[in-house]
Amino acid sequence: MSRKHLLVGNWKMNLGPHQAREFASSLAAEISALKRTDVWVCPPMVSLAAASEALLSSPVLVGAQNVHWAKTGAFTGETSPLFLKDLDVTFSLTGHSERRTYFGETSETVAMRTETALAEGLKVIVCVGETETERANGTTDQVLGDQLAPVFARLSAALAPQVVIAYEPVWAIGTGKVASIQDIAATHKFIQQLWNAQGYDHQPTILYGGSVNPQNFAEILALKEVSGALVGGASIKLDQWLELIRIAEATAE
Ligand code: PGA
Repeated sequence: MSRKHLLVGNWKMNLGPHQAREFASSLAAEISALKRTDVWVCPPMVSLAAASEALLSSPVLVGAQNVHWAKTGAFTGETSPLFLKDLDVTFSLTGHSERRTYFGETSETVAMRTETALAEGLKVIVCVGETETERANGTTDQVLGDQLAPVFARLSAALAPQVVIAYEPVWAIGTGKVASIQDIAATHKFIQQLWNAQGYDHQPTILYGGSVNPQNFAEILALKEVSGALVGGASIKLDQWLELIRIAEATAE
């Protein structure tokens, strides 16, 4: 049986609790059943409860945009995986490029966050990607390998199925520029090879992210190396998000 597509919406710092409830309610009203797509959304931390409540009877899962490596303690402004579980949240992103760029997260701290979240029973979407300069310099593979190495070093074969990798070229995020189909295929294949070299006994789930929209999504999703997408801007516009879900449901894997 072929695997389902995975479509993840990253709301970033948009939709506070009231707006999130409204958006999530509208989404819930539009989606009753999904056949070939898992749909997950990541509201801001303060909107998690409102979005979860509104989506309770829908197939859409709610997750966090980040999670801390400690379970409790003196880490002002951070969120424990235990608190996420308390809200029945089932997954979190780690290592989004905005966290790495604006908040000083390193591949090591991203790996620590990933490790604790997995140990506490959450699924994790680890985000990786190269900058425009790194791609131009031909160092994309090196950069992705360096970002993933500390994650793999802490990831057992038993927990590997709980991990999704999102490949998001930094220069494609929120810019309207999308990586070429050839580059997406080649880079996903490279990540697949890195994964397989760890000896995990299943194929990885690898999402593409970066300016995905209803115009470009079908072509990207048609690549056999692509399991789905991590979407920012188009995930908080209801008509576009519903169209992306429709495309994922209609596209054969
Ligand atoms: P974008 O964001 O779809 O707005 O480019 C993607 C992301 O940051 O995950």
